[in-house]
Amino acid sequence: MEKTGIFFGSTTGTTEHVAKMIAERAGVRPADIHDVAYTEPSTVGGYDTLVLGTSTWGSGEPQADWLDFLDGLEALDLRGKRIALFGCGDETMAETFCNGVGELYKRLKDTGAEFIGSYPADVYHFTRSSAVGSDGVPVGLLLDQVNHLDLTPGRIDGWLLTVAAPHVMA
Ligand SMILES: Cc1cc2nc3c(=O)[nH]c(=O)nc-3n(C[C@H](O)[C@H](O)[C@H](O)COP(=O)(O)O)c2cc1C
Repeated sequence: MEKTGIFFGSTTGTTEHVAKMIAERAGVRPADIHDVAYTEPSTVGGYDTLVLGTSTWGSGEPQADWLDFLDGLEALDLRGKRIALFGCGDETMAETFCNGVGELYKRLKDTGAEFIGSYPADVYHFTRSSAVGSDGVPVGLLLDQVNHLDLTPGRIDGWLLTVAAPHVMA
């Protein structure tokens, strides 16, 4: 049985809320939602698909609790795992929109995991994001809960369709 775990870092609760929305819509149990502030990186070993979510802070960094967790993940062999990234940002920070997601990708792209879940972000108005590849496609699901709350549920549903069939997410 394929297992999905959701791992998030969240300072004011926004990304946590979105993590729970994703879980509900994907049929992931609450016990499989993990706040990286209180979780050992080795916990990812119990899952086939890792849904990793961060907000962006400072001058475009991932949420602070991710820093130690990323160090731990980088030391693991993630071959055979799938990673789907999501993140919450603010499009008015137009030069660093959702850069935290880009940072997660950069730090984990050489771990052997397969990345899934690229999703367009052209509904938002920003100039630059390290989460957007040179092909113009974001590496995951970028969300703006500050300015476009209303877009989030539909974007999550669209993303989940591209990420996996229901049996993979459950
Ligand atoms: C001081 C500060 C810096 C921020 N920097 C960025 C940024 O560079 N890029 C971005 O997209 N969002 C930025 N944000 C917006 C947050 O990422 C956004 O509010 C997010 O929803 C917070 O999620 P959290 O409560 O889960 O941490 C910033 C917010 C604050 C208050």
